[in-house]
Amino acid sequence: MTDVLYFNGRFTTTDERVLSVEDRGFLFGDAVYEVFKFLGKRPIFLADHWRRLSNGLRTIEIRNPWEEQMFASTMRELLERTAFDDGIVYIEVSRGESERAHFYPEDLTPTAVAFSRRYKFPDAAKKERGIRLITDADLRWKHCDVKSVNLLANALSKKKAQRAGGDEVLFIDGDIVRECGSSSFFIVKNGRVITHPLDCHILPGVTRDHAIALAGDIVEQREISVRELEDADEIFITSTTLGVMPVYQIDGGAMRARGPITADLQRRLDEEESRA
Ligand code: PDD
Repeated sequence: MTDVLYFNGRFTTTDERVLSVEDRGFLFGDAVYEVFKFLGKRPIFLADHWRRLSNGLRTIEIRNPWEEQMFASTMRELLERTAFDDGIVYIEVSRGESERAHFYPEDLTPTAVAFSRRYKFPDAAKKERGIRLITDADLRWKHCDVKSVNLLANALSKKKAQRAGGDEVLFIDGDIVRECGSSSFFIVKNGRVITHPLDCHILPGVTRDHAIALAGDIVEQREISVRELEDADEIFITSTTLGVMPVYQIDGGAMRARGPITADLQRRLDEEESRA
């Protein structure tokens, strides 16, 4: 598929093979990434994605290749050059290219890429029906707050979930429910919206933040135990690509219909995105 590609300060297309085999992103997974959505060529929540990207780069000591203004204008130019109006942009920044060695040089020039992709966002029927989750042990590293490209554990667990008839994996750590393979996780109980607190066990999801702000003072950020899944009133997940998405079944258990709080948050997030 040919798409517009930004690579280290210039624009080309994804037909061009731009990366070196000695890029540390390829050799060591030494990189962070972002995915943002655009609608009618408008980037959605770009400032939030910038903030998370900057925090991730700082945490793993990669030099940020952009200032915020430059980042925003680069992404806008990418969208202007894109042939379609709605989709996602994938951004990756690696530590750069260097002879393979675990000890990385301090002064590397980071590699920055970004490309746009068409994306079929869920339609009204899918948003009402929701998705199925399959649980799996959380075998990820202990810095899940960094959006690193080390997604092997996520990819293996998601594939396992897909083979078991699921759409997404739900990571369980001992007795604690963390988050999903590529989305944040919420339950609703007695009118309270509950989600895992921000720490090293979960990604600070941009959509999670917006859902929390929309839900206001009915939100509780605390660990959820596996036992709480069974008698939750509503269950939903959030992500850039799925928005707020109800969960209709976990591990082939009881079927559930979309609940009123989930539907309300979906509507309000859609409204917010249409104004963004
Ligand atoms: N995934 N948790 C994990 C582990 C994720 O990978 C993602 C995003 C989220 C949701 O974050 P946000 O609301 O900022 O999209 C939560 C992206 C979409 C991906 O990997 O493609």
